Amino acid sequence: MSDTPFYQEVASRRTFGIISHPDAGKTTITEKLLLFGNAIQLAGTVKGRKTGRMATSDWMKMEQDRGISITTSVMQFPYKDRMVNLLDTPGHEDFSEDTYRTLTAVDSVLMVIDGAKGVEDRTIKLMDVCRLRDTPIFTFINKMDREVRDHIEVMDEIETVLKIKCAPVTWPIGMGKAFKGVYNLLTDTVHVFQPGKGSVVPDDVRIEGLHSPESVAYLTQGLIDELQDEIELVQGASHEFDLEEYLAGNLTPVFFGTALANFGIREMLDYFVEWAPMPIPRETNERAIVPTETDFTGFIFKIQANMDPKHRDRIAFMRICSGTYTKGMKMRHVRIGKDIKIADAVTFLAGDRSAVEEAVSGDIIGLHNHGTIQIGDTFTSSGDLQFTGIPHFAPELFKRVRLKDPLKMKQLQKGLQQLSEEGATQLFMPVNNNDLILGAVGVLQFDVVQQRLRDEYKVECIYEPISVNTARWVYCKDHKMLEDFKRKAGDNLAIDGGGHLTYVAPTRVNLSLTEERWPDIEFRSTREH
Ligand code: G4P
Repeated sequence: MSDTPFYQEVASRRTFGIISHPDAGKTTITEKLLLFGNAIQLAGTVKGRKTGRMATSDWMKMEQDRGISITTSVMQFPYKDRMVNLLDTPGHEDFSEDTYRTLTAVDSVLMVIDGAKGVEDRTIKLMDVCRLRDTPIFTFINKMDREVRDHIEVMDEIETVLKIKCAPVTWPIGMGKAFKGVYNLLTDTVHVFQPGKGSVVPDDVRIEGLHSPESVAYLTQGLIDELQDEIELVQGASHEFDLEEYLAGNLTPVFFGTALANFGIREMLDYFVEWAPMPIPRETNERAIVPTETDFTGFIFKIQANMDPKHRDRIAFMRICSGTYTKGMKMRHVRIGKDIKIADAVTFLAGDRSAVEEAVSGDIIGLHNHGTIQIGDTFTSSGDLQFTGIPHFAPELFKRVRLKDPLKMKQLQKGLQQLSEEGATQLFMPVNNNDLILGAVGVLQFDVVQQRLRDEYKVECIYEPISVNTARWVYCKDHKMLEDFKRKAGDNLAIDGGGHLTYVAPTRVNLSLTEERWPDIEFRSTREH
């Protein structure tokens, strides 16, 4: 089996995403990775995805101007004898739901840490999401060309705050203006700092042996002695790399460098394509699907709209979990029980949004979506199984939607229904009144929805504040009890966009009291698609 061309193809896939706090260097690293993948034409275009504060109009305009955002959503490039799929995770925390769901479609993660800042908020949160699936994690500590914090201290912070063991593979020699390169602890090799600027890939200059005459000539004996002491300290304080431990998500190999000067990334990428897992099995409601099974399966983890204002196309991103996609093949859209022919899926090789002929487990393909595909949907070549574990997160912000023109109610409902299926927002319809309540994780989501309703559905809406603090999905096996609960708590119950019963709590205190009062009812903060 392992020598079939199909197995080899699947085994060559490395599908991953990058997690980091804004400004740590995710965009810069993405560009440099593309350079190594020879997707040079793309490097530079990734820029502009700045993650700082911005107005909605900037966001929307940026999405449109980019036009290329779909190509930067998934970037496929060959490196050595592997095929790497890098899935972009939105940096802006207002779109964190998209990021969380993208993390369900990867097999491993690269965590980027700013060497001067150490572990920051958003990394902690994203790490929690990775934990849910024990995702294997590579770590890159960035910005060695600056005066950064003590490296051992930063590693210690990763271990204690993120609760993952660190195994340094490279170690920086100096920092800031005195940055000399990195030392590979596994091979006893000095990688000489060669700053690469823009799209120039620096030469790969190595000195074998820290104590070799070349090394002494480059670093000086004094610096080598200092480094030797530091390394002994590091080795005492950290862990040795262990592949099993890494694959189990318990230990992370650590690399140092500077993304801006494109140094240290190649050293990391070489190990990444070796150690990072090939596509891993995925759970369904029936059994785990192994990626080397030949029957085709996949699930939708993201829907992106408005990529090209001229075409108004929506693309549903599918992670292939087994088998091969071939152009023109028939697939079963399990939720709606229909067989459809897919002739025009898009792929992302080297950032080129071209029609794909063939794609295998681990790859991402884009399906043109005319409103029938939802996040979490499963597609198969045969059979009705359903992938599990693609979550909805309870929103934390709520607003009531009002129409400017009451005659447009139908369009509004249709628009909100579709936008909630896409994951752009969440919709709640109270059981006891005709309000339409929108829920979001980030405040920008509301503005995006308003703008899209105007552009795509020709509906002008306004928002009003509403006293909803949080929402919980309600589950109860005891039918009688559930009916009783519905009667008594009706004023705080709503049906969400997917038809699920939801408790919309006016305050946290109210939620706690309700949970206490109804101990046999489950109030879940996530719901699977
Ligand atoms: P993000 O996607 O994680 O938000 O980070 P991004 O790559 O945009 O990097 C954030 C800032 O940090 C950028 O500077 C970028 O140039 C800088 N940076 C990234 N890697 C390094 C590095 O290794 N060393 C140094 N010194 N800086 C680095 P900016 O001034 O905000 O943007 P720009 O003016 O450079 O575009």
